[in-house]
Amino acid sequence: MSPFFVLVLIVLLIIAIKVLPNRRRVKLLEEIPGPYHDPILGALRHFIHSPEQTWTTFRNFAKVHYPIYKFWLANVPVVSLLCPEDVEFRYMFMFHTLYVNSVVLLGRKWRSRRKLTTPAFYLSNLQELVSIFVKHSETLSQAVEKECERLYTNLDGLISEYTLLAASVFTFRYGELVAHQLSRPWSMIKLLTPKYWEVKELLRTLHGFTYSMIANRKRQLELSTPSSNVSPRLLDLLLSARNSGQLTDLDSIRQEVDTFLFASYDNTAKPIYFTLWLLAHHGSIQEKVFRELLEVFNKTNQPATYHDLQKLRYLDQVIKECLRLFPAVPLISRKLTEDMPTYSGYVVPAGTNVIVQIYDLHHNPEFYYDPYKFDPERFSPENSKNLHSHAYIPFCAGPRSCIGQKFAMMMIKSALCAILRRFIVEPVDSMKSVSFTAHLVLKTKEPVRVKFRKRLLL
Ligand code: HEM
Repeated sequence: MSPFFVLVLIVLLIIAIKVLPNRRRVKLLEEIPGPYHDPILGALRHFIHSPEQTWTTFRNFAKVHYPIYKFWLANVPVVSLLCPEDVEFRYMFMFHTLYVNSVVLLGRKWRSRRKLTTPAFYLSNLQELVSIFVKHSETLSQAVEKECERLYTNLDGLISEYTLLAASVFTFRYGELVAHQLSRPWSMIKLLTPKYWEVKELLRTLHGFTYSMIANRKRQLELSTPSSNVSPRLLDLLLSARNSGQLTDLDSIRQEVDTFLFASYDNTAKPIYFTLWLLAHHGSIQEKVFRELLEVFNKTNQPATYHDLQKLRYLDQVIKECLRLFPAVPLISRKLTEDMPTYSGYVVPAGTNVIVQIYDLHHNPEFYYDPYKFDPERFSPENSKNLHSHAYIPFCAGPRSCIGQKFAMMMIKSALCAILRRFIVEPVDSMKSVSFTAHLVLKTKEPVRVKFRKRLLL
């Protein structure tokens, strides 16, 4: 065969592999509606604004283009899913990392780590850990007591102190930087941007913190005698997997611990302070919560147990409604590994980045009457039984859903229970004064403030 013929064959092969499927992909994407995009920058002009405007842009797009829309960020297509039917689709999603790739894991590696860490979330472990949550909640309640002397309390500051400070500071700043980079693709010319170096420095700090946590636990384990009665803790599982060769290096353990820090602390702080804020503005619902607390604790000052927390059904409804109105993770992102036919009749081609706008899913008037109203009755057993299973997904759904959701609910309940048994929470600013900004987690532009007063009853 002549070299020329071989060359032609190679070129044809490249065209067949690269260009033809791309044309099909572009054609399928073009059929999906969306905002105007120009051939080079795509829809970027809609996102090169302040984080507050970007938040509003997403909300507007969701209203205008429901149930599905696409937009291009330069040459990268993104499809947004807004209706539960599409979110429910039994997809083979691959985890998409956005820019967080130093913190989260992909594909097969993820599967084996998920299997490895699942025992740390068994019910027996949760029951044991409730006493630790309760201990910290009591400390939180002492801090609230001091706050009663103040004119008002900034809830973000108060609650963050009781979630792991290093992690929430990291998540906060890191999330801001990621949101900034997403709307400015040229910042990917990394060395040109000071923010790139800031992200690097933040990651170095987080990794240093995680390594020292691992080293401390390793030392503790070396000094203690092993007991078969104790339920496995996450870090112990990871360290023993390293001893048995499943995890080969400290770096893998560090990655796993980072994932948990990143995924848990800020997410758990948010529902605690948004629930307090909502209750401050809804006195009658707060009184109903208090009456339930009185029933369970019977005016005693005893710390809560796992079983006490289980009995707080109405508080459960209140937290669920708070997570509907203010989902700590307002948007998640995936990359399709195969074509996805949608409820509305389009086909989203494999390889496309897909986002699920959880915030908009939770405010969909088709599934929630008066969707911006705080109404815990939506989650009473009778009212919630007919709700579409994917119209409410604060912890995501499917195989990559939140592994820590039961943990999170217990932590939130325990903190709220300790505070609401002893204090009345009152509004400081009007509800309308709080607005949101685009970030990896739900974030308000203004501080969320309330006034605490001691209850006279106890
Ligand atoms: C109210 C609090 C929480 C909320 C709203 C929440 C929400 C979520 C959501 C939406 C995801 C999916 C993210 C995505 O697919 O992009 C997720 C994943 C995850 N969450 Fe949570 N989470 C919370 C608390 C926690 C806690 C307390 C822990 C650990 C103790 C935790 C550990 C994780 C982990 C490890 C993942 C990744 C799971 C995987 O990829 O297999 N989360 N969470």
